[in-house]
Amino acid sequence: MDPTKPAKVVKDVVDAATDKLTDVLATVPGAPGSAPPTVEEPTTPRDPLPPKREQGAPETRTPTGAETGAPTIANGQQGAYLTTSQGARLRDTDHSLKAGPRGPLLLQDHHLREKITHFDHERIPERVVHARGAGAHGVFTSYGAAEEITKAGFLRKGRKTDVFVRFSTVLGSRGSADTVRDTRGFATKFYTDEGTFDLVANNMPVFFIQDAIKFPDIIHAAKPHPDREIPQAQSAHDTFWDFVSLHTEAQHHTIWNMSDRGIPRSYRMMEGFGVHTFRLVNAAGETALVKFHWKPKLGVHSLTWEETQMLGGIDPDFHRRDLYDAIEAGAFPEWELGLQVFPDTPEETFAGIDLLDPTKIVPEELAPVQPVGKLVLNRTPTNFFAETEQVAFHLGHLPPGIDVTNDPLLQGRLFSYVDTQLTRLGGPNFSQIPINRPHAEVNDMLRDGFHQQAVHAGVAPYRPNSLDGGNPFPAGDEENAFVDVPVTVVEAPKVRASPVSFDDHFSQVRLFWLSMSPVEKEHIIRAYTFELGKCYHQAIKERQLQCLANIDPVLCAQVATGLGLPAPEPTVPLADVAPSPALSQVGRVWPGDGRTVGIVVDPDGDLDDLHHVRRAVFAAGMVPLVIAPHGGLVADLPVQRSFATARSVEFDAILLAGAPAPAPDALPARDAKAGAADAATVDPRVLLLVEEAWRHAKAIGAWGAGHTVLRQTGIVDRPGVVTGTSGTEVFGEVKQVMAAHRTWDRFPASVA
Ligand code: HEM
Repeated sequence: MDPTKPAKVVKDVVDAATDKLTDVLATVPGAPGSAPPTVEEPTTPRDPLPPKREQGAPETRTPTGAETGAPTIANGQQGAYLTTSQGARLRDTDHSLKAGPRGPLLLQDHHLREKITHFDHERIPERVVHARGAGAHGVFTSYGAAEEITKAGFLRKGRKTDVFVRFSTVLGSRGSADTVRDTRGFATKFYTDEGTFDLVANNMPVFFIQDAIKFPDIIHAAKPHPDREIPQAQSAHDTFWDFVSLHTEAQHHTIWNMSDRGIPRSYRMMEGFGVHTFRLVNAAGETALVKFHWKPKLGVHSLTWEETQMLGGIDPDFHRRDLYDAIEAGAFPEWELGLQVFPDTPEETFAGIDLLDPTKIVPEELAPVQPVGKLVLNRTPTNFFAETEQVAFHLGHLPPGIDVTNDPLLQGRLFSYVDTQLTRLGGPNFSQIPINRPHAEVNDMLRDGFHQQAVHAGVAPYRPNSLDGGNPFPAGDEENAFVDVPVTVVEAPKVRASPVSFDDHFSQVRLFWLSMSPVEKEHIIRAYTFELGKCYHQAIKERQLQCLANIDPVLCAQVATGLGLPAPEPTVPLADVAPSPALSQVGRVWPGDGRTVGIVVDPDGDLDDLHHVRRAVFAAGMVPLVIAPHGGLVADLPVQRSFATARSVEFDAILLAGAPAPAPDALPARDAKAGAADAATVDPRVLLLVEEAWRHAKAIGAWGAGHTVLRQTGIVDRPGVVTGTSGTEVFGEVKQVMAAHRTWDRFPASVA
């Protein structure tokens, strides 16, 4: 990773901003292509353009893991000329071969058939869950803090390991919106030189079920109903609530989903959790139990519920775009990998908590998360399908030093991932797809099958053999063989049952509720009320209210009021639990890297401060987007959003550098947003922008004529609204407001 990148990109963008518009557009995060297009169709043959400078690609390894030294673009298209898939140059790909210009098409047109046939098979099945996702390349650097408890080489001090991360939602189809209420996947592939390690995590530390055998059931309940195939990417429907109220072990995960964790602001602002307890083993054979955590540098932040609704229509790709734009802007997303470490005792419990129960957390106050390394995502994929879609994660991808436990959810997952990938990726050789190729030597005796890409030599893929000189040989401790920790399996009857400790379904849900700040509790109440309000059947609402009564009477009463139903009494004693402050998202301050700041300008007004403010926003590591009545240039700066294309949900803060009069297109007949306010002296779309930013508790700043906008919206002298005489002074204060993510004290909570 190039540590100078952010500053360099910022400088490039600022410098480019003073150049011609076409050059500028090429450097704005999100602009497609690695070079600006020409107005005329290019006719001079040339080699393919390289990827954009922020794009990475899988290393060029052979299917069996050897380095090739070839540049990554060697995997892409070659040469200046259009060819068939066999490399024969073609003179025309726009006209099929016909019997005369008006005649029928000829079967002999092999180019037509090859092109259409390939197209006919371009789609592959989407993932059965986690279908919607976005990926990025990066580097993991180890601090060495885990050296004593694991022999895994990638956790040695200073060791750098290439990674690929895929973030996802669980329920929606591949084309569904990013901002729905759902759990998010956070799957990381570490290409270690001792074999690939996949940490297939979520942004919530617990799971719906305790035993993998129920996974098809929870997913059938949560996916769209089988008759009408609605609703898409939603849990606000009867089958979901039917399941989670009947399988009360799901209540802990459900409250996480109903909390702000279910609607993250950005993939960059999510925690990640390996959920299960894993077993680490060191060189001496000593073991420890651990839980994996990812801690985002930018803190954990969420959208507001209304923002998610608006983004679902305005920008369904919001999280994907945010990830890629942040990397292109040089604001590389960062996380620390941390471990909660527990002694490996025969009971496999810690502080009375069953470490094999995936519906339980161990509060960080009881077992602090110890940082062991840093992840930086610094490259976007060059090709979404080849990388993000074809990547295949699997919990069984473990290097020596990391082993599994008997968590019954984990054990089932060990079977499921490879099984599903066999179909999704069309055969058993998907580990040879470039993004899945290990960065370690592979000699697995697996042979043939669909899409075999290795050219195996020899005649004896079996062991022992004498015909291939005995190769491959088994490794021992000296050669760093994988360690299956010889855990004692207690003699016991064969049963379909869970341990008694798995029966406690409510105490940690209450712990979560009690750990929330008042505003977070308000959001949880609203989420339950909305979701249950969308259910058709009263019995399901009543059953879930009973669960809420067993969590907390205030929560239950508030939701019951919203549903117009009586609040039941608890059927289990309310657990006496200590809150875990680490679970709350509010009350701290965080860096603002990659946050977007919308600057409303009036081309006819005072533009003196504009360049300075824009530079100040860049210097803060944020992305300024100029919003003006029309596209093009204002004060030699590129306009990234017009009043017609801008919407508040895209920005983390709004700066008002002017009070632009209604633009010619501020007609309700042309732009429905223009109907949102009386066209007075300020364009109504600007007033709407500010009102929405206010409602979503975002920072707002104004100077000069910008004060007029505030006066027209009535938002003056209010929390998180900064006014002043110069743009840089105002932005300086706005930056402080943004550090707390939102100005929640604009909206006092009704619950304690
Ligand atoms: C702690 C519980 C679980 C977590 C954290 C989890 C996490 C994930 C993640 C992050 C993905 C997306 C991988 C990607 O981006 O390609 C995924 C996919 C998947 N998960 Fe899970 N999952 C859990 C439980 C389960 C269980 C219990 C099963 C089945 C028994 C299961 C089956 C699958 C399948 C089949 C896929 C699709 C994989 C593919 O097509 O590549 N998961 N899971």
